[in-house]
Amino acid sequence: MKKAIYPGSFDPITKGHLDIIRRGSKSFDKVIVAVLINSEKQGLFSIEERVSLIRKATFGIDNVEIISFEGLLVDYMEKNHISIILKGLRNSKDFEYELQMANVNKILGNEIETIFMISNPENSYISSSMVKEVCKLGGNISGLVPSEVESIIKKKIMG
Ligand code: PNS
Repeated sequence: MKKAIYPGSFDPITKGHLDIIRRGSKSFDKVIVAVLINSEKQGLFSIEERVSLIRKATFGIDNVEIISFEGLLVDYMEKNHISIILKGLRNSKDFEYELQMANVNKILGNEIETIFMISNPENSYISSSMVKEVCKLGGNISGLVPSEVESIIKKKIMG
């Protein structure tokens, strides 16, 4: 069984994330979406809220599992017999950052491969921080987040 882990902050999930999950679910037998618990970086949405948003947005994609983890990604992967990391690439800035992470993970882990999927052009400008900023300032986020979770995200940000 070919499993891939798709790790990230997902604070909150965007249309770009969902596109990578959908496409990943076609290339792998199972995609494990892993929400990082970072005690040093609080974020806006709680871990439970992030997991719940991803669960709602991915409803109907059978081979997707959502988990949260704290600690080193490679440790989680080794414990759970996963050797492939799936990541999305939007631009050259992502590339620089992801290249470093992929190489560090390769040094830390045993036989870890990072596989990149190029974002669809319409998603290449979307980020979770942009979603939060646009929404806070009263902008329309319908083009930025999955429709299934738009109202929940709005409610959390706008109150
Ligand atoms: O969505 P993000 O913030 O770009 O995701 C970053 C993430 C969660 C993939 C990365 O920070 C991570 O893997 N953190 C877990 C801790 C770890 O393993 N660090 C060393 C790898 S560089």
